Amino acid sequence: LKHLLTAESLSDQEVMGLIKRAQEFKNGEKWQPRKEQYFVANLFFENSTRTHKSFEMAERKMGINVIEFDAKASSVSKGESLYDTVLTMAAIGVDAVVVRHSEENYYNQLIQSKTITCSVINGGDGSGQHPTQCLLDVLTIYEEFGRFEGLKIAIVGDLTHSRVANSNMKMLKRLGADLYFAGPEEWYNKKYEAYGEYQPIDAVVDKVDVMMMLRVQHERHEGDENFSKEAYHREYGLTVDRAARMKEQAIIMHPAPVNRDVELADELVESYQSRITQQMTNGVFMRMAILEAIMSGKA
Ligand code: CP
Repeated sequence: LKHLLTAESLSDQEVMGLIKRAQEFKNGEKWQPRKEQYFVANLFFENSTRTHKSFEMAERKMGINVIEFDAKASSVSKGESLYDTVLTMAAIGVDAVVVRHSEENYYNQLIQSKTITCSVINGGDGSGQHPTQCLLDVLTIYEEFGRFEGLKIAIVGDLTHSRVANSNMKMLKRLGADLYFAGPEEWYNKKYEAYGEYQPIDAVVDKVDVMMMLRVQHERHEGDENFSKEAYHREYGLTVDRAARMKEQAIIMHPAPVNRDVELADELVESYQSRITQQMTNGVFMRMAILEAIMSGKA
């Protein structure tokens, strides 16, 4: 694997290979590097806790050298572009960069460059895609059910701004899941019809195997000063009462950070049906599998 940019750039076989390898890492298997030293720079131009720190944990577990980068303390503050920052990383010998940036498809200019030789791993591009979150999510679902075919999965909430939803709907549909979308209708777009049907949350909550809740992205909503957290929770959120209607074996997922008592009731975050902390844990092992797949082309 040279780069990881979108969910659809991976074949089904590659996805299943990454799931199996992440499970092996979780079971204690070690990476066998083919050269002595690898270098990775994590370039986060948007805030992150999970993606940034689980990549760093994965890198350190694998013995990869992590090149520290703080956008605010870098030459980005002098106006240096993303392109020139990555060009610099490649020039000093970095094997791969993990990039989170607010610009959708920021990676196109990087991978088209003849001089940028390092691999690019997309840690989230605006409202575009979040392929590594998508892969840790499919790992979590596969661990739970051992299959995707025929699973009923609801993706609920801020679909318009969610790069997680964008990656996951493409991946899960392709792997054979039956998808439903719920949440405010104005946040549903007809283009999602190719992947699943819109239904009110009360119509899906008792029939699905996975309730995948999305964070309300307040920072990407303009002019929503009338937004009421209480009203959102009541009308579109997974409340305690709604969760009581879920199937016994159904699970709750959320990429986090969670707006507690907005899209998801506070009490449900660590409930027995929640897999939110497992998603975070799986993020480390899936990112190890991704880094291995990328680094195996570097030896
Ligand atoms: N799920 C996720 O991407 O979280 P962070 O923004 O904390 O990385």
